[in-house]
Amino acid sequence: MSAQYQFDRAELEAFWMPFTANRQFKSKPRLLAKASGMHYWTPEGRAILDGVAGLWCVNAGHGRKEIAEAVSRQIAEMEYAPPFQMGHPGAFKLANEVVRWLPAGLDHVFFTNSGSESVDTALKIALAYHRVRGEGTRTRLIGRERGYHGVGFGGISVGGMVNNRKFFGAQLPGVDHLPHTHDLAHNAYTRGEPAWGAHLADDLERIVALHDASNIAAVIVEPVAGSTGVLIPPQGYLERLREICTKHGILLIFDEVITGFGRLGTPFAAQRFEVMPDLITMAKGLTNGAVPMGAVAARKEIYDAFMQGPDNAIELFHGYTYSAHPVACAAGIATQEIYQREGLLTRAQDMAGYWADAVHSLKGLPHVIDLRNLGLIGAVELESIAGKPGARAFDAFVRAFEKGILIRVTGDIIALSPPLIIEKSHVDELFGKLAEVLKETP
Ligand SMILES: Cc1ncc(COP(=O)(O)O)c(C=O)c1O
Repeated sequence: MSAQYQFDRAELEAFWMPFTANRQFKSKPRLLAKASGMHYWTPEGRAILDGVAGLWCVNAGHGRKEIAEAVSRQIAEMEYAPPFQMGHPGAFKLANEVVRWLPAGLDHVFFTNSGSESVDTALKIALAYHRVRGEGTRTRLIGRERGYHGVGFGGISVGGMVNNRKFFGAQLPGVDHLPHTHDLAHNAYTRGEPAWGAHLADDLERIVALHDASNIAAVIVEPVAGSTGVLIPPQGYLERLREICTKHGILLIFDEVITGFGRLGTPFAAQRFEVMPDLITMAKGLTNGAVPMGAVAARKEIYDAFMQGPDNAIELFHGYTYSAHPVACAAGIATQEIYQREGLLTRAQDMAGYWADAVHSLKGLPHVIDLRNLGLIGAVELESIAGKPGARAFDAFVRAFEKGILIRVTGDIIALSPPLIIEKSHVDELFGKLAEVLKETP
């Protein structure tokens, strides 16, 4: 291990780590120092098979030279260009590349720097859209229990994960939540989309009856809820949400920060479920995780609604210093070229059957109470230890890392979402080692 990776305990203190058990980590750090293909390497040179694409983002696998070269060329040529009232070629090129993957009709792209910013941007576009059309009473936003929409105040307000909300005060007013769709009594061990639960979308009618549609701006959901532990939508559920939104003039936002860029075997989940939302948020796979970047895709009618008034007027008072950052755009363009050339955004279709078999092969191992899968996503739900929620899965996570696989845990659920370049031999290794971990789980 080279000296640059040797820290004493005190040197680990300064970095307040995000979504991390800081004291546990700093007492026994897990460091990653290098990455290529399906693997990370620790500073000691131990290979770690990546079962989660970093954090659901390195869809084309690690160490892609084309991205590194594009980024380095762009920094040398022009490191920054202001995005307000100015442009640079990469921004327009990347917007067109993203539109090529989107469902027909979603053809405008607003750039952000993260999934959280994409969510706040989408919520603001929804509110402003109704206002510019003269329906400014539509201000209420509807999220879902157990939803994760990042960590901005908009995102935690419509989100439904209690720990992400309970410490942070009153949040946005005028928000309601649909019920989540997770129900082990009906759906445990389902392969793919569960048959039970489409009726849960009808709760939207109850909320509309309570507030009146004239006060409701948008509904936001993850097509597959990822960060809460992989909740696969029941068959017909998203279609039903779409129908009710359309009936009442409510915008439907799909938060595709995780499902975008091929995770389910189609470029976006909207295509997989054949449900067309009005806005799509994305981030992560947009640049293969190489440079922070997010985006919101909008239907043409939404963009067009803003294009009114004098030509010199700014149509949407929103944007970031780093919207469409040239270096992020360079990474994004190189990433889209890889996706296109290697057919990665549909590759999950070819692997999904093998993946599903591997996920469900864990049935019967100690403490496993559910297994779920869709595309190249999988989840293992463990029975919680009484009075210690999350402890069992966290222990499995730590032991999995020691065995050479990177998994992700949320509560007592293990989530898996490998790079889309995964081969069958990697699937075998990932689930073989995970099975060993589960067999040894106290
Ligand atoms: C569905 C969804 N929305 C939003 C976000 C937030 O993205 P970021 O962490 O880039 O802000 C995430 C992150 O995992 C996500 O899964």
